[in-house]
Amino acid sequence: MQQSRHMALALLFGAAGSHPASWMHPDGRLTPPTTLDAYADAARLCERGLFDLFFIADTPAARTENLHAWSRFPMFMNVLEPITLLTALAGITSRIGLGGTVSTSFSEPYNVARQFASLDHLSAGRAAWNVVTSANDYAARNFGHAKLAPHADRYRRAGEFVDVVRQLWDSWDDDAFVLNRDTGLYFDPASQHPVHHQGAFFKVDGALNIARSPQGHPVIIEAGASDTGQELAARTAEVVFSSNPSPQASKRFTDGLKARMPAYGRDPSELKVLAGLPILLAETDEQAAEAYARLQELVHPDVGRFRLGMDLETDLSDLPIDQPIPADRIPTGANFHKGFFDDILRLIGDGTPTLRDVYLRYERGRKTVTGGPKRIADVMEEWFTSGAADGFMLQFHIMPGGLDLFVAQVVPELQRRGLMRTSYDGPTLRDNLGLVRPARGARMAMQVAE
Ligand SMILES: Cc1cc2nc3c(=O)[nH]c(=O)nc-3n(C[C@H](O)[C@H](O)[C@H](O)COP(=O)(O)O)c2cc1C
Repeated sequence: MQQSRHMALALLFGAAGSHPASWMHPDGRLTPPTTLDAYADAARLCERGLFDLFFIADTPAARTENLHAWSRFPMFMNVLEPITLLTALAGITSRIGLGGTVSTSFSEPYNVARQFASLDHLSAGRAAWNVVTSANDYAARNFGHAKLAPHADRYRRAGEFVDVVRQLWDSWDDDAFVLNRDTGLYFDPASQHPVHHQGAFFKVDGALNIARSPQGHPVIIEAGASDTGQELAARTAEVVFSSNPSPQASKRFTDGLKARMPAYGRDPSELKVLAGLPILLAETDEQAAEAYARLQELVHPDVGRFRLGMDLETDLSDLPIDQPIPADRIPTGANFHKGFFDDILRLIGDGTPTLRDVYLRYERGRKTVTGGPKRIADVMEEWFTSGAADGFMLQFHIMPGGLDLFVAQVVPELQRRGLMRTSYDGPTLRDNLGLVRPARGARMAMQVAE
């Protein structure tokens, strides 16, 4: 019943691909991701494939420690600032949604409200903001702090942040700017609705200096998986990116998240869950399996040890990779990502794997699907029809080849099966996702005062 007519599709962009060794694979794109071209081809390809959303993840920091590992796994080390990039993409695309991350821990609501309203205007209603609280101290250090604020405080700030942004997006009526030479009024004075907000984190007394945007509110995305993260999403998110290794686990997550919504006066249809799906797609299942094995071989031991150690919250750099991780090196509990930490414990407990086995199998909650076009379509059909998700956040391990093949062969197959649209539903991202345009000043599920 909660199924929409067709699955929603988003791309989580990675220039060479989404695997830690994608950039080392001979088929991964090697041009630096600081040219518009590096993104433009992928965005246009997604649009040809009738994707809902082109998405840019972000953190406002370069890593400055453990460069022996980061230099072999250059995540967020050479990227464009998302709003700048998405604005450029708005000019060379016309239908696809454009989403990007901005952290609520290191910005102010007025800036963010203004930036996304501008992007929504420039893209004619295709903007989406991924609300994150950030999860690394590198970012904190760029903004006057030694460490990130505690998890609960970050989420309290995020909740207030989103509330203020949404009020700012409503600081003018839709038809405020009348530009009427007969009356001499550029805007109707009665149509301004300034925000008077004073909360635990922000004090804002004013109105946005831009007209209400085409979508009313740009689409709000979130991806927090913790209890607090899910509670914020149940109250405020319209799209949630999830990370689960199986359709069963994904269905439990989706049902659980949507069950939290009525407490905030929201209907479950007001939120679309997009399941993260890392894909290694090739012409045949065999070729895909071979390419994946090749990618795995390309993971440098320093990278493998470091990525695992990061989420296991311990230093593994001195350990041999061909032996099990000694029990006394495993911490008793997690501080950062409890879900990821538990995942690793499960992998360690599954037989007697070597350190290398564990780091190669560990995918931060997800599980790569390898295969030719038919197999990939089968997996997506299974997830979608079982209600595991409303759609997918796709990550291709080989870019742009994987996306290219997906658009050429998997999209038509999904269309044949009646699982995907055959044309865009409307001009805005909301139209395509089946999300209602919020009326100005409509009651919002506000944060419960503590
Ligand atoms: C598909 C996806 C994309 C994400 N993108 C970002 C991102 O761009 N920046 C970021 O700081 N965190 C990103 N995250 C992390 C989450 O927003 C969140 O911070 C993390 O899951 C920890 O939140 P939690 O403690 O509530 O689980 C992403 C997560 C997923 C699943």
